[in-house]
Amino acid sequence: MSKINRDEFILVLDFGGQYKELIARAVRGLSVYSEIKPGDLSLDEIKGMNPAGIILTGGPKSVYLPGSPVCDPGLFSLGVPVLGICYGMHLMCHMLGGKVESGGAGEYGRVVVNADSPFTALMSHRDIVTRLPEGFVATARTASCIASCENAKRKLYAVQYHPESAHTEGGKEIIRRFLYGVCGVSGNYKIDDYVKSQTAEIRQKLGKNGVLLALSGGVDSSVCAGLLSKAVPNQLVCIFVDHGLMRLNEGDEIQRVFSGQKLRFIRVNAKERFLVKLKGVVEPEAKRKIIGEEFIRVFEEESARLGRIPFLAQGTIYPDIVESGGKYGSTIKSHHNVGGLPERLSFDGVIEPLSGLFKDEVRVIGKKLGLPSSLVNRQPFPGPGLAVRVMGAVTEEKLDILRKADAILREELDGVKRRPNQYFAVLTDTKSVGVKGDERTYNPVIAVRAVETDDFMTCEYARLSHKVLGRISSRITSEISGVSRVVYDITGKPPGTVEWE
Ligand code: XMP
Repeated sequence: MSKINRDEFILVLDFGGQYKELIARAVRGLSVYSEIKPGDLSLDEIKGMNPAGIILTGGPKSVYLPGSPVCDPGLFSLGVPVLGICYGMHLMCHMLGGKVESGGAGEYGRVVVNADSPFTALMSHRDIVTRLPEGFVATARTASCIASCENAKRKLYAVQYHPESAHTEGGKEIIRRFLYGVCGVSGNYKIDDYVKSQTAEIRQKLGKNGVLLALSGGVDSSVCAGLLSKAVPNQLVCIFVDHGLMRLNEGDEIQRVFSGQKLRFIRVNAKERFLVKLKGVVEPEAKRKIIGEEFIRVFEEESARLGRIPFLAQGTIYPDIVESGGKYGSTIKSHHNVGGLPERLSFDGVIEPLSGLFKDEVRVIGKKLGLPSSLVNRQPFPGPGLAVRVMGAVTEEKLDILRKADAILREELDGVKRRPNQYFAVLTDTKSVGVKGDERTYNPVIAVRAVETDDFMTCEYARLSHKVLGRISSRITSEISGVSRVVYDITGKPPGTVEWE
């Protein structure tokens, strides 16, 4: 991370919590620099970073079981303010002499917290603190647990709920109070000078050497291309591997945008070989792995064809690094970012100019670079593309049906007043009986997915109007002959995920 004002630093110690990035992002959103490090960071390392405050994340384990992650107990005596969240609260209480036990059924979802003024907060825990350490007082409760506690004299604070989640009322304010009220920061973190400092750094690192970028057309790799084309316009080559799993006309759109930029853009049409590799493959993780690997093969061949280009650029962003470096989390699904290439490719160096930034920060940079808003504000699209939106084995025919349904859905929703944050069609592997004209039909079911989310790590289904849903359904069933009916997915995350596979 380069030349960003980080003299006020909040250290987020990770114990495997699903929401750790939300914590660091919430802190940065409040103009304070933060980074996530493994929970067992040594006391010396912590002291070396000179944090203004420490936040302990949640995590899936139980503190009272052997082998559960712990922090260096010395951090509670540094005089640096500490905020423990969920598992972080258990850890703080357990290590300082309190008691943590299983709380029976646990609390999952929005729960009312009885504080001075009651509010709802996102809870996701089974264990509860049953005895506070000496010097601590409970500051709020729910019907079944201590919701927050503190030892203000030692600047130690803990919450059972997740203030970093948008589902906690006033959650941001709780974090703000910890940062500005307890840690005493002034809020000096800005990303305005990021483009300038990165441009200088890229030029210095590359010298006169060429650099190759895997461009997927997604926000991250596009902004990376924008940044590199500004810094080293004549040294950059972008390769777009079109795996044939893109949405309707998407490959052509990407080509159109980047062919118009001052950079060398190469599109590789590799649809056939991806479909051959995917033939008959049903299992979602297997599909993801095959696509990731085949992508690398195509990229390797292409870069060999171009002769030796010494540097590789990747659109890696901070959450990608945190996810792959996490020690205690559990894998929900292996996200494939088509920019993620192996080190085995022989390059003298890899540059990752966005690796210190969160997604919304990347979008801000994209805007500053003048990229079209259709690209900068693009909805997330999974690296494995439509292969994980066709349930079961992928075929050209199924992709074709899904592309048409998805295009109709997007046409209808692109124009609504409150657009959901992400929406797409899924081709299910269920067939149902229908009637068209006087004919019986027996065709697949299309599922419509539309979600509201700030962070794409949790979501709620979008409350679309019945009028809009009705229009989507009647257009899909009448305009596409191979679809018998349309259903709307009303599952949140958790317990669902955004994508179906
Ligand atoms: P899930 O399905 O995990 O999705 O709830 C969360 C967000 O991530 C997107 N997604 C992916 N993005 N590579 C990506 O770059 C992937 O393999 C991938 N899988 C899911 C998904 O669209 C949603 O926005």
